[in-house]
Amino acid sequence: MFTNRYFYPRNIENFSKYKNLNFITISEMFSFNPLKVKYDQKLGTGVSGAVYPYQKSPDDLRWVVKHIQTPKSETLVAQIQEIVLGFSCNHPNVLPVKGFHIGLDHLKSMWDIYIKLPRMEGTLRSKMNEHIADNTQFSEEQIVQYFYEVVCGLEYLHKKKIAHRDVKLDNILIDKDNVAKVSDFGIGKFIDEETTHIELERAGTLFYSAPEVLDKNFQLKKRDLYKADAWSLGVVMTELCALKTKIVNIFSSGEDKEKDLAKKIEELKGKYNDVILDLLLSLLKCDPEERKTVEEAKKVLQENYGDLLVYFYRYLG
Ligand SMILES: Nc1ncnc2c1ncn2[C@@H]1O[C@H](COP(=O)(O)OP(=O)(O)OP(=O)(O)O)[C@@H](O)[C@H]1O
Ligand SMILES: [Mg+2]
Repeated sequence: MFTNRYFYPRNIENFSKYKNLNFITISEMFSFNPLKVKYDQKLGTGVSGAVYPYQKSPDDLRWVVKHIQTPKSETLVAQIQEIVLGFSCNHPNVLPVKGFHIGLDHLKSMWDIYIKLPRMEGTLRSKMNEHIADNTQFSEEQIVQYFYEVVCGLEYLHKKKIAHRDVKLDNILIDKDNVAKVSDFGIGKFIDEETTHIELERAGTLFYSAPEVLDKNFQLKKRDLYKADAWSLGVVMTELCALKTKIVNIFSSGEDKEKDLAKKIEELKGKYNDVILDLLLSLLKCDPEERKTVEEAKKVLQENYGDLLVYFYRYLG
């Protein structure tokens, strides 16, 4: 019934939008069996659904599935978009989608969507909780490593014209080798080649949302979703350094958010190098035009921690 041609753009004009996608092999997409989902071993629950191990044998610990239910009356476009985005990504700091299945729950009149993903050890939130429990802060090297890895993952997405739009502690997963990977492009979106500023409804988790994303009066055309990701990245990394979540008052103005966060960052003086703290300040500028991009943040880390990064990765990507 399905052939690859369904995933090719219909006309050549649209092709430029998709040219960065690696086309998906259908056999890979459907290599998924819903009967292998271990419902009795739930790994976590999120806003959109729950995550379970997916095991072909009891010792198979390689996969999980994210199970999402959507009312039958709603279209599946957004979810399919998330899945296609995940399939098209191939980067060490981005979590790839490895399979999917869509079924209809007739009794509840809901679509059942299962997304197969590589199994990770934890999230930046769980790593932070370990430090809070031990009453120890992250070492500077550890902060630089996570910072750099998240920046590389986001830069890769941005180069593919994808704004993540939901960067938060829970959406940065950590694998068994302690490598950070960004995940969940549930509300990520392709951005037109010509217009990098586009109108989109509010999205993201409020504590991490850039001021302009929450500001109804902000000129829609001025919203730069890549810069909004840079703000969220700044909040995530400040939380890691401060070992505290919900550090932003979601009801205050952009200027007040910037001031409050600057105070929090000031309190970190002595615990972390000024390079890191200045970088956080430059990501947490309420005016997107003054705010550093993810790419610029990567340069700062490379210029100041080149030796450390070479040591971590043996090369600078
Ligand atoms: N690939 C994975 N491997 C292991 N555990 C995972 C994986 N993906 C998610 N989890 C766990 O399941 C939890 C729920 O994930 P999920 O992405 O559904 O929710 P969330 O990130 O909290 O919110 P959102 O729905 O906005 O993404 C995560 O916090 C994490 O603990
Ligand atoms: Mg998530």
